[in-house]
Amino acid sequence: MSKEYFSLIKRILPKKFGKKEQYLAFVKTYGCQQNFADTEKICGILHASGFGFTEDETIADLIVFNTCAIRKHAEDRFIGNVGNVKKLKERNKNLVTVVCGCITQQEEFAKYVKKTFPFVNLVLGTDYIKIFPELLYRALTSRASVCFNELDNLPVIQEDVPTKRANNIKASVPIMYGCDNFCSYCIVPYVRGRERSRKPENIILEVEDLIKNGYKEILLLGQNVNSYGKGLTEIIDFSELLRRIDEIPGEYWVRFMTSHPKDVTKELVDTMADSKHIAPYLHLPIQSGNNRILRKMNRKYTREQYEEIVNYIRIKIPKVCLSTDIIVGFPGETYEEFLDTISLIKKVEYSLIYSFIYSKRPGTPAAKMEDSVPYEEKAKRQSYLIELQKHITEDLFSRYVGTYQKVLVEDLDKSNENVFIARTGGNVLTKVYSNGKDDLLGKFVNVKIIDNTRTYLVAEV
Ligand code: SAH
Ligand code: SF4
Ligand code: F3S
Repeated sequence: MSKEYFSLIKRILPKKFGKKEQYLAFVKTYGCQQNFADTEKICGILHASGFGFTEDETIADLIVFNTCAIRKHAEDRFIGNVGNVKKLKERNKNLVTVVCGCITQQEEFAKYVKKTFPFVNLVLGTDYIKIFPELLYRALTSRASVCFNELDNLPVIQEDVPTKRANNIKASVPIMYGCDNFCSYCIVPYVRGRERSRKPENIILEVEDLIKNGYKEILLLGQNVNSYGKGLTEIIDFSELLRRIDEIPGEYWVRFMTSHPKDVTKELVDTMADSKHIAPYLHLPIQSGNNRILRKMNRKYTREQYEEIVNYIRIKIPKVCLSTDIIVGFPGETYEEFLDTISLIKKVEYSLIYSFIYSKRPGTPAAKMEDSVPYEEKAKRQSYLIELQKHITEDLFSRYVGTYQKVLVEDLDKSNENVFIARTGGNVLTKVYSNGKDDLLGKFVNVKIIDNTRTYLVAEV
């Protein structure tokens, strides 16, 4: 990391924005955990360069949009928000705007942003955070806007980027970047490049440090954590990495996402079952319950293989909670094929489902497939699925009532000072009633589940 730029930036801030007690950055993040992890690095760099942070964009000196391209909706939200900056810029002509992330990693989109929003000062892709200090310095000192997004996914992982974490109880730790799977609907491999794994010793050091500093939950991140280790000189796979992390002493939970079902091995499940710290939770995106659609999606597993691994998990880790992602209305999906997804959902009993209506991503193979199902029909299918899942969750959660659970208390309920927000090992949201005296924040507590709704458990200490 080009750290000399931190002091260079600090020195030019008064010239650029006038003398102020604090220079403020407003950072807006779209998209997945990976992007939020990148934002923590961007904020680390900004902090080291003399910026403080605000959630009020109208008083900011610097605005950063970290964008997501996964669905059109995410792109539209960003376009709407960046449009508003024009008004802010009219009031404050010194305002500096940066657009980074998955949208601007695509060359034509970076050009589009530059052309459509000429007031944007710096445009860069996901891979360029490692030279963000230098690029920011250039943007702050030049009149012209700076655009940096050549599509040469450098296979280099920068280890010494400062991080400003958004939370002091739960921390995300990226273990790998990029994706090699090329699911036919997905833009991620094009914007995040090929898979690159961090060296295990760097990951272990980071996790040790977090636990020493009181973090209670570590979320290991990657688009497909199960293929961790490919390309490293040391021969290591994800199960081995988990075993090494699990040896770190302390009271903490480890979670990870995302697991591609094609790469979940019995060894991984056994490792989870035998560990002290890995929470009994697995996010296992199925996308569709129909084999023809799974083939067209290039997911490389069948429904039967998926069910087999789910059965094995349920036997080895009876307390496990599973969640999944579903795409509704993939090109050519018939109603009968959709019903296969419904029957799978009923069978697996997920605690949580993220469902998405298929969104065409230019440049992906699925964008060329014929898509004859009207949007209204897709929306209807999604509503049906969501309604069904509400009943499944309610039924599942009602079985918790009367049991004792270990939860991690992670927040206060803003609307009631006697209520804490917590999660079970299975990642189920739990509202914990206490008499308001104990400070439970950041602690593991044993609670009794006394009630449930469709979305959370209600408990008392
Ligand atoms: N690497 C992860 C997911 C990353 S994207 C995995 O393989 O599971 C998160 C979710 O967004 C995906 O699981 C998928 O359900 C959804 N998604 C991806 N591309 C999409 C598209 N073009 N339209 C709708 N949903 C999409
Ligand atoms: Fe996209 Fe598939 Fe890679 Fe997940 S595994 S990021 S869905 S290409
Ligand atoms: Fe979006 Fe990029 Fe994540 S496209 S979902 S922010 S990897």
